[in-house]
Amino acid sequence: MLKTKRYTITAALPYTNGPLHIGHLAGVYIPADIYARYQRNAGNDVAFICGSDEHGVAIKMKAKEESKSPKEIIDRYDKIIRDSFKNFNISFDNYSRTSLKIHHETAQEFFINLNKKNVFIEKETEQLYDIEAKEFLADRFIVGTCPICRNEEAYGDQCEDCGSSLSSLDLINPKSKLSGSKPILKNTKHWYLPLNKYENFITKWIIDGHKNDWKPNVYGQVKSWIDNGLQPRAVTRDLDWGIPVPVQENKNKVLYVWFDAPIGYISSTKEWAKKNNKDWEIYWKDEKTELIHFIGKDNIVFHCIIFPSMLKASGDYILPTNVPANEFLNLEGKKISTSKNWAVWLHEYLEDFPEQEDVLRYVLTANSPELKDNDFTWKDFQSRNNNELVAIYGNFVNRVIVLINKYYQGVIPKAESLSKYDVIVLNEIHSIPEKIGKSVEKFRFRDALKELINIARIGNKYLADEEPWKLIKTSPNRVATILNTSIQVVGILAYLSEPFLPQTSLKLQKLLRIELFDWDILRNKSILKEGHIINQQELLFKKIEDKEIERQIDKLKKNQSE
Ligand code: 2FM
Ligand code: ZN
Repeated sequence: MLKTKRYTITAALPYTNGPLHIGHLAGVYIPADIYARYQRNAGNDVAFICGSDEHGVAIKMKAKEESKSPKEIIDRYDKIIRDSFKNFNISFDNYSRTSLKIHHETAQEFFINLNKKNVFIEKETEQLYDIEAKEFLADRFIVGTCPICRNEEAYGDQCEDCGSSLSSLDLINPKSKLSGSKPILKNTKHWYLPLNKYENFITKWIIDGHKNDWKPNVYGQVKSWIDNGLQPRAVTRDLDWGIPVPVQENKNKVLYVWFDAPIGYISSTKEWAKKNNKDWEIYWKDEKTELIHFIGKDNIVFHCIIFPSMLKASGDYILPTNVPANEFLNLEGKKISTSKNWAVWLHEYLEDFPEQEDVLRYVLTANSPELKDNDFTWKDFQSRNNNELVAIYGNFVNRVIVLINKYYQGVIPKAESLSKYDVIVLNEIHSIPEKIGKSVEKFRFRDALKELINIARIGNKYLADEEPWKLIKTSPNRVATILNTSIQVVGILAYLSEPFLPQTSLKLQKLLRIELFDWDILRNKSILKEGHIINQQELLFKKIEDKEIERQIDKLKKNQSE
């Protein structure tokens, strides 16, 4: 019997200031979706949570660029992003928005609670101010040289090149993004979270406690933060777009977007619980719940240091069990860049490769930047599709379905006595669910996917070795056994593909005329019984021609030169 565990699985809330590209899918949403689907299939209780991140300077900047209001911007991109998630079958239990009332209230309550507990330091300090635009310059409103890696385009809150989290006063030669002018210093009051007080807690919890079970890239970043010493960080901003700081004397101050955004996971869970008549609190406060944050590497400090310190300070929240952050995905050897239009946009991909969402899911998982940055190339996309999905997976399934229809009118034949080879194949195949499970539990989705394709590889070899088409006249009983064995392998593929290739798994379920039940069935040697009727073949994957790939490469080059 499987023991049911409870999982709160979060995926980083995307900013609604642009559409999603393959880097987002590979870095965060595909691994999170595989994990959530796997845990559901394993019989566990899952809340897979996400939503749009709609505050902060990034949104205001976009609105300014397009002469639109922030509200128009967030509404437009919230819709585009939602559609992409739906089209790529990302199976969120709830997708919310941080502009909703439920979130504003939750974030304000969180702040009020910490304020009551005297967690914050209230401090008047000098901040950068743009005299021409008459605005304080926080975060992305300011660019300058990163004091750590010397990148000249670092933002006031973060350097995207080296991943360092910065304060705008750290920047060398700061410049206002609003007017291009050199800012002056002006006094303003803010609320600070004294991270220095949480150093011991983070050290004990992560540095001492998770050296072996957290990914080395995540652990390493946290360690370097702690080694450099933590400083108090402002959790409020002088801005007119965001959640008002819930204090009486507030004048045009809002919560820092990185204070409110992770609380978005909680408000999204609340919204889901309300809709489904559930108790949200057990997903955030019960020690038995596993909280897993899927994020990209630029979000590590926020999810491993700042948000956990907020949760700890609030007193009654659980901490993440793991934060399996990915590194970055590059495109054709260069960093993906929205501003330079060096990206494969999800909505455009589906226009060019309609209904081929699983191909992209497959390639991005096979090539996932799990431990180091990785590269997506269109040539690799083509060869993985043609040589793996078409030639191995699709070919195997197709041969089995065609033969059963041809020889037995689609009725699964009876397995007579199994040969030694049949038993070896079945045993090998039946050892794979556990291997996949172990890899997924360790967030090694590339390894898990290799095992999945291995099932079809073993099946193909089995058919090639046994050559049932040569035996149909002389040994019909043997052919029946070979095809019965083969269809069991297809059945296992239908189950195990679900987390990775949900659309393909659905097609297989239709072909086999089955519905997926609890994965406990995989312990059973015979998933599909003799006499069960299957459908006619239908192609699962199709070959991608050179000209389609050349078109994509040309498109990228053209975008760049525009
Ligand atoms: O980096 C980003 O795209 C952020 N919008 C991620 C937020 S994650 C969370 F904390 F909400
Ligand atoms: Zn840097």
